[in-house]
Amino acid sequence: MEKKLILGISSSPRKGANTDILLEHALKAAEEYEYIRTETIYLRDYDISPCNSCVGCCAETAAKGDADRACLSFRDGMDLIYPKLLECSGLILASPVYFGSANAQMKAFMDRTEGLLRYGFSKYKNALSYKVGGGIAVGGNRNAGQEFTIQQIHYYFAIHDMIIVGSGAEPMPGCYLGGGATTYPLRGRVRDAVLQDEVGLKCTGNLGRKVASTIGMMNK
Ligand SMILES: Cc1cc2nc3c(=O)[nH]c(=O)nc-3n(C[C@H](O)[C@H](O)[C@H](O)COP(=O)(O)O)c2cc1C
Repeated sequence: MEKKLILGISSSPRKGANTDILLEHALKAAEEYEYIRTETIYLRDYDISPCNSCVGCCAETAAKGDADRACLSFRDGMDLIYPKLLECSGLILASPVYFGSANAQMKAFMDRTEGLLRYGFSKYKNALSYKVGGGIAVGGNRNAGQEFTIQQIHYYFAIHDMIIVGSGAEPMPGCYLGGGATTYPLRGRVRDAVLQDEVGLKCTGNLGRKVASTIGMMNK
């Protein structure tokens, strides 16, 4: 089997901090499968405007369209990200928990993929459908939004007709939904505090393996 790409996207504004560490951990675990290669996108490196609801990406306005563009309104960092979303076989989204949910950077990214849905008109139409998705969330507290944030990510995957995977039943106790982790009891400003969250690391690693093995099963 030719190598399949798992694309990891981190929405943390903090380079090399907890969200990035967890994403790297998941991707490294995924690479245990010889048919997997990985790439990482850090949203902080891209200028991404929030969706302005021009509906230019929808079929109704296809007359205005351009087959190479998933979004008509903005020429920004998303133009560099769309081709990677088209290319990948798996997508892992990693967000810090802000006020119990995904942060604004992650949400801006999500909203800008409306043109990748079934009613898009460009070559990016259905770009994510039947691809494998996994979610990671890290909070400064425990039980303080991680599950909701991963479910938010899952909802996004479901709307894109993706195959959603979690981290499985192990470890026990742990987050079944995916990579749910905490920086507690260290303070949030400790950039690698999550390295002390043994359970969080374990389910995040399991998530990476689950995304990889599901891609393998789908390509048998
Ligand atoms: C604006 C803001 C809101 C936050 N809200 C929550 C929250 O609701 N629940 C939680 O557990 N942690 C919350 N945190 C803490 C972060 O999720 C935590 O510090 C996380 O490690 C950040 O990831 P990073 O190290 O990659 O930046 C919040 C942090 C910020 C800056």
